Amino acid sequence: MAVSDQWAFPRLHDKYPELGTGPLSTEPYVSAEHFEREREHIFRKSWLIIGRVEEIAGPGDYLAIDIEIAKASILIVRDREGGIRGFYNQCSHRSGKVMREGKGQCKLLQCPYHGWVYNLDGSLRGIPDEKGFFDLDKAMLGLAPIATDVWAGFIFVNFDPNPSESLAQFMGEFGAWLGDYPFGAYADNMAEWRVELKCNWKTIKDAFQEPFHLTFVHHRTIGGIYGNSSNPFNYVLDCLLYDRHHSMSQPGSDTPVEPQGLAKIARDFGPAEGQHAASLATGASDVRFTPGTNPTRNPNWDVDLHGLFPNVTMNTFAGGRYLINFLWPLAVDRTLWIARAYFPRPKSAGELFSYEFNKVFLRDILMEDVSVVEGTQQGMASGGKTLINLHEQEIMVRHDHKVIGEVLRKAAESEHG
Ligand code: FES
Ligand SMILES: [Fe+2]
Repeated sequence: MAVSDQWAFPRLHDKYPELGTGPLSTEPYVSAEHFEREREHIFRKSWLIIGRVEEIAGPGDYLAIDIEIAKASILIVRDREGGIRGFYNQCSHRSGKVMREGKGQCKLLQCPYHGWVYNLDGSLRGIPDEKGFFDLDKAMLGLAPIATDVWAGFIFVNFDPNPSESLAQFMGEFGAWLGDYPFGAYADNMAEWRVELKCNWKTIKDAFQEPFHLTFVHHRTIGGIYGNSSNPFNYVLDCLLYDRHHSMSQPGSDTPVEPQGLAKIARDFGPAEGQHAASLATGASDVRFTPGTNPTRNPNWDVDLHGLFPNVTMNTFAGGRYLINFLWPLAVDRTLWIARAYFPRPKSAGELFSYEFNKVFLRDILMEDVSVVEGTQQGMASGGKTLINLHEQEIMVRHDHKVIGEVLRKAAESEHG
């Protein structure tokens, strides 16, 4: 039975007519002034995903991360009681960087410049040659805290000293649903790639917000796995837009191209691209019903594509694995893209091969995205055209424009009284 015979692909814009259908400006992708407003009103005010709780599993484990868009380095530490604390990575002496960028384990936090020492709870513990300083109130000289909280095992920070909403409120209904996904089950089998791209952060985010481009950009890899004659342009099963976040569900092909060679061996031993939920479903472990996935409960569901406002996208696949992309703005036309692919812990040599093959395959797919986004940025920067024209399947791109536009409009209104 053809995919298109089993359900009617919904007209996504009919569900959300308030988004409109008109062309959108390229200005948010190329304007330095717009970029500065995003820095101030979006990135310094939103909850931002930094990492996973498993990365700092025990007391003294820490992450020191530079976040260029916030003009800050931050320190996330597991304290002695098992709590997760966030601080500016800035020494109270002369603002030295207390911990070098990266991850590690320590008993105390010590600034390398003149040796000031902090406890894991951020309080100041010791000052070398303290007698030479003047009237220090040591109780006031701990590290400056930054709002930090956890959702579904993801550590978030918020640079707003008084966040206007809690993380639970920020994630809202979307978070309540997706938060049931078993992210923690895949925490210890991860592959990461980092690429600095010559494009705006939204240019690359957009590429992960629609499978409409698979037929063309990914024709060498997954074009034939997802699309086919009954769904040639990879229409999605459904799309759900929340306040700021959103999700699409993508079907696998009902007649996928049979993999060859190593790809076939990998498919035989583990989850593979485009594998229908139905073909993986076995009784109690029916992946159609994995918590936090496949809201339409469609048997041919394969993957959900999520956009977590502002700068994260995520793919949760049938068969148990997920991909998360962090799009960290460096400048209006430069972005640090960090992709992390999480797989189950392999239980056999066959599974190990399958997961390793899939990591490399995924890297190749992602590089195909790189091949178009820098050229897209160049096109927008040229100013030859100042509008983009979106297909109805590109509704999550439109939603991002609306959300960002509204945040900046409200900020401008409050600035001007
Ligand atoms: S700046 Fe940290 S000890 Fe001097
Ligand atoms: Fe892509």
